[in-house]
Amino acid sequence: MRAVSVGNSQPICRGCLASDIREAHARHRQRALIDACGVDPLFMRFNRWEMLRGCEEYLLAAEAVRTCAEGDSLAMLTGKVGRGKSQSMATAVLQSCYDGRQARLVPANSLVDELKARYKDKHGDSAHDWLQKWLRPHLLAIDDVHRLKHEKPNTMMRFEWLLDRRCTSYRPTILAGNLASDEISRVLGAPIADRINGGGGEIEFLDWPSFRGRDQDDDLEWGLSESGVS
Ligand SMILES: Nc1ncnc2c1ncn2[C@@H]1O[C@H](COP(=O)(O)OP(=O)(O)OP(=O)(O)O)[C@@H](O)[C@H]1O
Ligand SMILES: [Mg+2]
Repeated sequence: MRAVSVGNSQPICRGCLASDIREAHARHRQRALIDACGVDPLFMRFNRWEMLRGCEEYLLAAEAVRTCAEGDSLAMLTGKVGRGKSQSMATAVLQSCYDGRQARLVPANSLVDELKARYKDKHGDSAHDWLQKWLRPHLLAIDDVHRLKHEKPNTMMRFEWLLDRRCTSYRPTILAGNLASDEISRVLGAPIADRINGGGGEIEFLDWPSFRGRDQDDDLEWGLSESGVS
């Protein structure tokens, strides 16, 4: 391999230079993906799967979320408040960005508000543009879907359309909300519930205390496992 000399400094091997440039490009891409991913800075602390800590049941649920994020279907996280649903989706999105894949986390109400704002814009096929925009990310995580409870059938039809198109494009989509299993179909509609059941399924975040207001150092008191999500 020939070396190039820059000024009076040590010659640099072309191979090393090329690999430095590739690494710089990869870091630049990761940064750009993370800046655009929509994750709240509150959730950035646990930006890789290995960083998540918790009891065995929690780690199994987080592992199931990881499997969905690395798969190609639709899954739904249900359960009580503060159990780590949003954090596990945020970790999935951040990890995907580190792996160089576009991923987005969006609250369900922002997603449909954006759609409704486009209905009002009479220029062009705006619902189609909305669909294209949210089809683009490799991984899409939609939080707080219980807030869709009062949406009109027309809006829910477009929401279902997006989830369908993502499933048929083999792109993973993860929903989360404070819903019990028997509420999924009532709130999101039977076709979406069927897609969930036939895809990544429902992942329950239930059987451990809320993470809110507690510190990582409380782990021993909880009898929590030391291992992370592998
Ligand atoms: N594994 C974890 N270790 C430590 N803290 C965590 C963990 N998972 C989540 N948290 C923190 O606990 C808080 C609650 O988590 P999160 O918001 O993910 O819960 P949630 O199930 O989405 O709650 P809600 O139903 O109210 O939306 C957040 O501040 C989050 O950063
Ligand atoms: Mg949440």
